[in-house]
Amino acid sequence: MKVLIGGGTGFIGRAITRTLKDSGWDVWNISRSRGGANTISWGDVEKNGIPECDAVINLSGENAFTPFRRWDDQYRNVVIQSRMNTTRLLADSIAASSRPPKAWVATSAEGYYPVSRDQEFTEYSEVDCSNLKDDFFRQLCVQWEDSGRLPGDCPTRHSIIRVGLVLGRDGGILNQLWYQYKMGMGGPVGGGDYHFCWIHIQDMARMYQFAIECDNVSGVLNGTAPGCVLQREFAQALGAAMYRPALLPTPGLVMKLLLGSERGEYVLKGKQVLPQRVQDLGFKFNYPDITSCLTDLVK
Ligand SMILES: NC(=O)c1ccc[n+]([C@@H]2O[C@H](COP(=O)([O-])OP(=O)(O)OC[C@H]3O[C@@H](n4cnc5c(N)ncnc54)[C@H](OP(=O)(O)O)[C@@H]3O)[C@@H](O)[C@H]2O)c1
Repeated sequence: MKVLIGGGTGFIGRAITRTLKDSGWDVWNISRSRGGANTISWGDVEKNGIPECDAVINLSGENAFTPFRRWDDQYRNVVIQSRMNTTRLLADSIAASSRPPKAWVATSAEGYYPVSRDQEFTEYSEVDCSNLKDDFFRQLCVQWEDSGRLPGDCPTRHSIIRVGLVLGRDGGILNQLWYQYKMGMGGPVGGGDYHFCWIHIQDMARMYQFAIECDNVSGVLNGTAPGCVLQREFAQALGAAMYRPALLPTPGLVMKLLLGSERGEYVLKGKQVLPQRVQDLGFKFNYPDITSCLTDLVK
């Protein structure tokens, strides 16, 4: 069985690659850098379409949270285009293929859902997406998801995974926080009184595998663990797992200085995004709560 992964060289893509290879999949990357084993370029896909395969996944996208990088229109544009162009190219190539793959899994983010202190969102929630012009991240997710739609007569199963904050040792937010906590300088950020939707990297990789392998799976899946916590609870759990205090607060202003006000505010306003439908479809989390997740990751 052959799978093609756009952006398979990144943090989540490497974990999916390991998981799928362990299950016997032949994994191929689509990457901006030429060369390397089992790698084709986006130019190859533009020119020749996708090679024959059983499943396609896209994870490509410019990192939207690089600290200190000026959050201007040029950067915003790269963040949007790097996701939409690659997703649309893959969807178009699947639709044009003479032997389309069985499964197509596109990525989105929990940023699809509106900020809320009290409301819980699942894949079944109906959310208003009609007026998003002042909400960059929700607009981005809606456009990103739309760019991956397949025509009605295409037999390929299309799933969209709305990814939360992925916790793993070799990338993502935990990697950024590691030394701060190791030095005993961790703690709540911006008061910590907002929800933090996370998922263990192995569960994330297994969810992509679930979406490509299970014939009953299509549509939206929330890539978040059931045990969504407040940010200050996450800080306490990470401190406890690392046997370090987590008492040093970081003021919200620091996040806004690091990321700019739009991205800083996005990070400091949480939401509860729960994986109801994906569990109804049969997905089982190995790390459903933050303590089991962090205990595994720091050992
Ligand atoms: N990690 C998280 O916590 C998280 C949370 C929510 C959503 N997501 C989404 O999940 C996806 C994968 O996340 P990740 O953490 O694995 O990201 P990552 O480590 O930054 O990897 C993304 C990959 O996308 C490709 N890429 C980067 N910039 C690009 C550009 N300008 N144009 C085209 N391709 C580009 C790169 O592959 P090549 O260099 O090989 O081309 C890179 O390996 C991203 O779309 C991200 O927005 C991640």
